[in-house]
Amino acid sequence: MAETIQSAAEKFAAIIEQQLARVEKMKAQKDFIDYSTLDTIIIGVCGGDGIGPAITKAAQRILEYLLKDEVAKGKVEFRNIDGLTIENRVKAGKAIPDDVLEELKACHVILKGPTTTPRAGDPWPNIESANVAMRKELDLFANVRPVKVPEQGIDWTFFRENTEGGYALGSQGIHFNDDLAIDFTVTTQEGSERIARAAFEFAKKNGKTRVTAVTKANVIKTTDGKFLNICKEVAKEYPDIEFDDWYIDIMTAKLVDEKRRTQFQVVVLPNLYGDIITDEAAEFQGGVGTAGSSNLGKRYAMFEAIHGSAPRMVAEGRDKYADPCSIIRAGVMLLSHIGYQKEADKLEKALDICMYQEKKLVITGRDTGATGEEFAEYVMETIASL
Ligand code: IPM
Ligand code: MG
Repeated sequence: MAETIQSAAEKFAAIIEQQLARVEKMKAQKDFIDYSTLDTIIIGVCGGDGIGPAITKAAQRILEYLLKDEVAKGKVEFRNIDGLTIENRVKAGKAIPDDVLEELKACHVILKGPTTTPRAGDPWPNIESANVAMRKELDLFANVRPVKVPEQGIDWTFFRENTEGGYALGSQGIHFNDDLAIDFTVTTQEGSERIARAAFEFAKKNGKTRVTAVTKANVIKTTDGKFLNICKEVAKEYPDIEFDDWYIDIMTAKLVDEKRRTQFQVVVLPNLYGDIITDEAAEFQGGVGTAGSSNLGKRYAMFEAIHGSAPRMVAEGRDKYADPCSIIRAGVMLLSHIGYQKEADKLEKALDICMYQEKKLVITGRDTGATGEEFAEYVMETIASL
């Protein structure tokens, strides 16, 4: 689709207006929701695509087991939301169909399985990723991804900005003509301040002594430059916490430097760098299949596995053998986030026993290993024995 300069300029003007409106919405936001004041906390469960429904069901069973008294009292309610599938999204021509979005918005927190991310060349239209759309629609600005390898002294928590950067307009680039395509990256004062503050507040509450900002501000001067400056400003409000900054290229290298990497604690960074480095970081812990991820906003929060939907496993009839550990880890974060810390600790402990210590059942992704259901039962039995 070739553009004239005039229509490209109009598109750009519309983008600026849309982003300014988003800034106003951010400014109008109040404080974080306080779950303890709610009569009922509604947990939406969204299976997604591919292996998503199988692994999400395994995680849901464990959460329902841990929260059964709360469910009986009406303090917690689980709601299944089945419509977030690639087929429905294609039919609606939207990253999230309207009825599904409405169901999501009626919940407080969401447990979400992986969703297929369309790309050019796929059998379906190249619509926006459902993850990315959900993060934007529910304004889930903080993507928090912990990585721990205790025996190597690794204990990192990444605060990835989740609504801006290269992702904000990732589906709204300008294809000017065959010779020229332009994408945009977005940094706002409000958006950077809230993620920087979230990282420092987490550090303060969890006894962390250092926050590290990661950008490429030496080259991407305007947007990354702004992000870094805001981190520096916010750092001044936390004099007891050390602050340093690194560029993404050398940071990527330093994560494999055994002496240096143990010094990082809390890392705050723009969206795309956060996307990339959290996959690298998860690899030290056993790969993306072992890591959970929380997407936090002031009104909503969503917890998800960080791996993909593995359509090939489903095509080969192996979805029941898919590893549910990543989404169960996301369940730990969900419990902790809504105030059930005791239950979160129990689940984390049981999961560590099942995954790393006792290993009575092993998941191989095939019929040579346990099914996700069997693994969920193993985790519940372990919880009961704690
Ligand atoms: C992630 C994923 C997503 C992202 C994809 C699936 C759109 O890689 O959660 O890190 O890029 O954010
Ligand atoms: Mg990623």
